[in-house]
Amino acid sequence: MTATPMTAPTAPVMQAESLTRHYGVSQGFLKPNVTVKALVDVSFTLTAGQTLAVVGESGCGKSTLARQLTLIEPPTAGRLQVGDEWVTPGDRAQYKRLRSQVQMVFQNPYASLNPRQKIGHQIGEPLLLNTTLSAAERKDKVLESLKRVGLRPEHYDRYAHMFSGGQRQRIAIARAMVLQPKILVADEPTSALDVSIQAQVLNLFMDLQEQLQTAYVFVSHNLAVVEHIANDVMVMYLGRVVEAGPKATIFANALHPYTLALLSATPSIDPAQRQKKIKIHGELPSPLNPPSGCAFHKRCPKADARCERELPLLRPLEGRQVACHHV
Ligand SMILES: Nc1ncnc2c1ncn2[C@@H]1O[C@H](COP(=O)(O)OP(=O)(O)OP(=O)(O)O)[C@@H](O)[C@H]1O
Ligand SMILES: [Mg+2]
Repeated sequence: MTATPMTAPTAPVMQAESLTRHYGVSQGFLKPNVTVKALVDVSFTLTAGQTLAVVGESGCGKSTLARQLTLIEPPTAGRLQVGDEWVTPGDRAQYKRLRSQVQMVFQNPYASLNPRQKIGHQIGEPLLLNTTLSAAERKDKVLESLKRVGLRPEHYDRYAHMFSGGQRQRIAIARAMVLQPKILVADEPTSALDVSIQAQVLNLFMDLQEQLQTAYVFVSHNLAVVEHIANDVMVMYLGRVVEAGPKATIFANALHPYTLALLSATPSIDPAQRQKKIKIHGELPSPLNPPSGCAFHKRCPKADARCERELPLLRPLEGRQVACHHV
């Protein structure tokens, strides 16, 4: 996938090639282990200052992808490039170097901060671990970071419980941004916040991106949020990408029935853009026992015998990639 035509093409800051992650899951005593294919063959290119939104239902593999991109976990197959370096599994020195370039913001700002440390200390921790800056220099950077996310110098010495949810997420963002990473992976960063606060935090993400040209991988199940923030969109279903491309293309003319269903289930999206209503029934199938052929066929209004049998591959069509036999 490439950047939107609005921006001049630049070198990618991150590339994923067929990233795949399997987990072995125990079925219980004397039963054989089974493999969950949480992520299969996910590829994309991300450039500076751009946002790739990853959408899909609970369990489709969004957080698994986020963990691969932030080097928390190695992929089972496929490879990842950060900056101009391909990640070598097991190269600890490289991991340490690259981790400072890819930072993460989690969904729950209550769980991601230590209740016993002053927030100034927590925001400065990545600087302590990854740079040789003096204590005074680190403090300056933390104060600058606080200011950038809309907090004040006097907040430096306070503890996490003294802040609201929105402020805590600002603190988590300050900590993720203090090293000025090339890439920020945000996993549902506004879903736990009060609706009135969500827009402020989203706007903060966008302002920071404009100032620092950070590239974002933004995981969200909320298409209204995605419409606001993304340049490119990747729709996932049961571990695989089913449709991916520039946001404008996907929102104006989605092709995959699953994308259409997600769009028509989002009331805040402009009705003209919501296209024809598609309603899907049933639950996301178990990844322990995925359906044959197209994983979406049991819920898809267009499905036929071929979908039951044959896995549709991602192919370029009308300015995006799509995996469906019927488009
Ligand atoms: N460590 C693990 N061991 C076994 N299975 C796992 C592990 N991590 C994730 N999975 C499975 O992989 C699949 C994808 O999980 P993941 O957390 O990536 O989904 P998600 O899209 O982030 O969902 P949500 O929207 O609920 O956060 C799920 O079926 C999950 O049960
Ligand atoms: Mg998740």
